[in-house]
Amino acid sequence: MTTFAVTAALPGRAPEMLTGAGEIRAAPGSGPLAREQLLALVEGADVAVTMLYDRVDEEFLDAAGTNLRGVCNVAVGFDNIDLAACARRGIVVTNTPGVLDDATADLAFALILAARRRLGEGERLVRSGERWQWGMGFMVGHDLRGGRLGIVGLGGIGARVGARGRGFGMEIAYFGRRESPNAAELEATRLDLDELLASSDVVSLHTPLTPETRHLIGARELGLMKPTATLVNTARGAVVDEAALAEALREGRIAGAGLDVFEDEPNVHPGLLELENAVLVPHIGSATVETRATMAELAARNAVAIARGEAPPTPVPLPG
Ligand code: DGY
Repeated sequence: MTTFAVTAALPGRAPEMLTGAGEIRAAPGSGPLAREQLLALVEGADVAVTMLYDRVDEEFLDAAGTNLRGVCNVAVGFDNIDLAACARRGIVVTNTPGVLDDATADLAFALILAARRRLGEGERLVRSGERWQWGMGFMVGHDLRGGRLGIVGLGGIGARVGARGRGFGMEIAYFGRRESPNAAELEATRLDLDELLASSDVVSLHTPLTPETRHLIGARELGLMKPTATLVNTARGAVVDEAALAEALREGRIAGAGLDVFEDEPNVHPGLLELENAVLVPHIGSATVETRATMAELAARNAVAIARGEAPPTPVPLPG
């Protein structure tokens, strides 16, 4: 009998899909397990269904043992998984691409609007009970229409953000290692990263976290951006050097930022917490009832396929 170790309670039809194909050993809650609990949960499992905060490394794989055939992450990102270690042991890794593109793009665009129109700051002001007064120069932000939206990574999520940007009258530019098949429909111009940063009014990050993209946006890159520009990150926190960003925002070297992800979640750089021009939300890009159910179901389909010795629908390419 296949054992699925599931590291958090799954929504939607995912639990019944798994019980139809084996037995579930599931964590009861929806938050991270302590490391020892996680290692105990996966011991002897055939397939592990993991969350983006579970570190899947040699220690995890040792704890799981030689039965383990698959690690199915309930996330599009898989920077929590040591792919080389999985490859060495012949363990298949899967993720959940595509199904969260719209939810994440909606959140990215919500952050763009919130940061460009100073919503967080305005909300805090009204709730504070402090006196405020309409004025010609009071709480002015920036238009979206006519501005350039620079997208770093024009994959599924980036393209959906681009489509929303077009709807708001923005011109789309992108940076990517290769031409994106999504570019033509968006009439998007491909630029190198420095050019994109220097010419965009909003820069939105949609690149996976890899050794190459860690701190892709640091002090030098922030220094290239317009003082009126906004940076939005719904990808992974470590794509941005958070300390450098806090400094750039504090000094007004860029106008604002909207962040859904942080370098050391759930901790946030203390410098960011003090700033009015940073809109901060707690990694909720895919957090809708519908999308979370679909993500869990895709992870369950992957897990069941691996358990049956079939090719899973959305494998992650492994090195080597
Ligand atoms: C992912 O799937 O990688 C997202 O960050 C989840 O919100």
